[in-house]
Amino acid sequence: MGADGDGGPVHGSVLDGIGATPLVRLNRIVPEGGAPVWVKTEWANPGGSVKDRAALAMVLDAEASGALAPGGTIVEGTSGNTGIGLAMVAAARGYRAVFVVPDRTTPEKLALLGAYGAEVVPTPGLVPREDPRHVQQLAARIAAETPDGWLADQYANPANPDVHERTTGPEIWAQTGGRITHLVAGAGTGGTVTGAGRHLRRHGVEIVAADPWTSRYGGGDGSPYYVEAVGHYLHPLTGADSWPAVYDTAVPDRTERVGDGESLRTVRRLAREEGLLVGGSAGLAVAAALRVSAAAGPDGLVVAVLPDSGRIYLSKYFDDAWLTTLGFLDAAEEPLVRDVIGPHEPGLRVAPATVTIGELHAEVGPGGPGGAVPVVLPRATDADGTATWSVPDVIGCVRLGELAGLPAADRVGVHAGPPPPTVGHGEAAATAAARLDDAGVDPQDPVLVLVDGRGVTQIERAALDG
Ligand SMILES: Cc1ncc(COP(=O)(O)O)c(C=O)c1O
Repeated sequence: MGADGDGGPVHGSVLDGIGATPLVRLNRIVPEGGAPVWVKTEWANPGGSVKDRAALAMVLDAEASGALAPGGTIVEGTSGNTGIGLAMVAAARGYRAVFVVPDRTTPEKLALLGAYGAEVVPTPGLVPREDPRHVQQLAARIAAETPDGWLADQYANPANPDVHERTTGPEIWAQTGGRITHLVAGAGTGGTVTGAGRHLRRHGVEIVAADPWTSRYGGGDGSPYYVEAVGHYLHPLTGADSWPAVYDTAVPDRTERVGDGESLRTVRRLAREEGLLVGGSAGLAVAAALRVSAAAGPDGLVVAVLPDSGRIYLSKYFDDAWLTTLGFLDAAEEPLVRDVIGPHEPGLRVAPATVTIGELHAEVGPGGPGGAVPVVLPRATDADGTATWSVPDVIGCVRLGELAGLPAADRVGVHAGPPPPTVGHGEAAATAAARLDDAGVDPQDPVLVLVDGRGVTQIERAALDG
């Protein structure tokens, strides 16, 4: 609260409330002997996220250049928050708004876009960049085909990083009285870390980009991850990978790679131990900031940018059933799946969909239960030479015995059946068994076991009976 009787400012429009967000000190989760960690509460923007800044800046810029005419239509491809920011700006300034969103976007975000009066066009999220249904491609086409349509294009629009260089960076410098030593921020378009980072670098601040473990930005294998709106996913069939033009990768001094499990468990700790209800990308940034704090020691001052609130992720990051079935959380009731299945060999044996049956027989060995081998999208390995198997990457399943006698030159993907059902390693074994039984899974059928959202081994359904 401000001083007694200080009611705060009166704004001419909701848009005047964008920016000047508070910093909050973390009190209970910072490591002993580490640097203080202060967080920039970007959910305090009126549209609920850091993207309000870029949305308003891009619209004002387009109005000034004439690219956006009075009564025109704002079009954007967005996983949600840029859309929410643009929808708010559109409503306040009298524009129509149309947003192309990936189909995995949370229902809460879609409902928010509709609440501001925007139109929403869902499209598959996990398709190659060249696919006409790809979010950016479809948005560009709709903008071109709509009279007075204007594509905001946050990935290439310089107004996006510029607003962070003019506002977010200087705010943090002023709020810390110039004592900040490290800035930690995730990168989606890269606008925040590029812009705020450019300003703070000039003052000698070390800039750390926080990145989901499998994101391409930090050298990951590009496979899907569960923290929304940051990092760079790569569909294996994308020909030429291109990174957003606005992300100046020379700005961060380094990248901290954080696994989904660490990010999501940090999200829960922020809510339960600090009273901060925030989204997955905030958990990612704080998880990285805690590492930076431990390394910097008490003389440092770490600031992490927390992009949005947890309210729009209640059906995911704060839903115990969602977390447990994906292997992020342990159930209270024992025994757990991992207690009854016993030890397993590390390294799940999989078949890339493009290998031939001949190659598969030579390479895979006996397979899992009943000779079952999950069929996955072919994926390059991580910078460290490993590849991990996320659920969306598992597109089918073959049984080695059933491939005998088929032409050795046939590709495995052609003969694949549906992907195996999954269980989280921390689910209660009885709950997982009942769930699979309800789904009609037979006792001898293969089941993929997930740790932190990724397949680690296969079991027979019957193994859950202990
Ligand atoms: C929740 C959330 N976190 C982080 C980001 C990344 O911000 P930037 O695009 O500035 O890199 C976004 C962008 O949409 C977001 O919505």
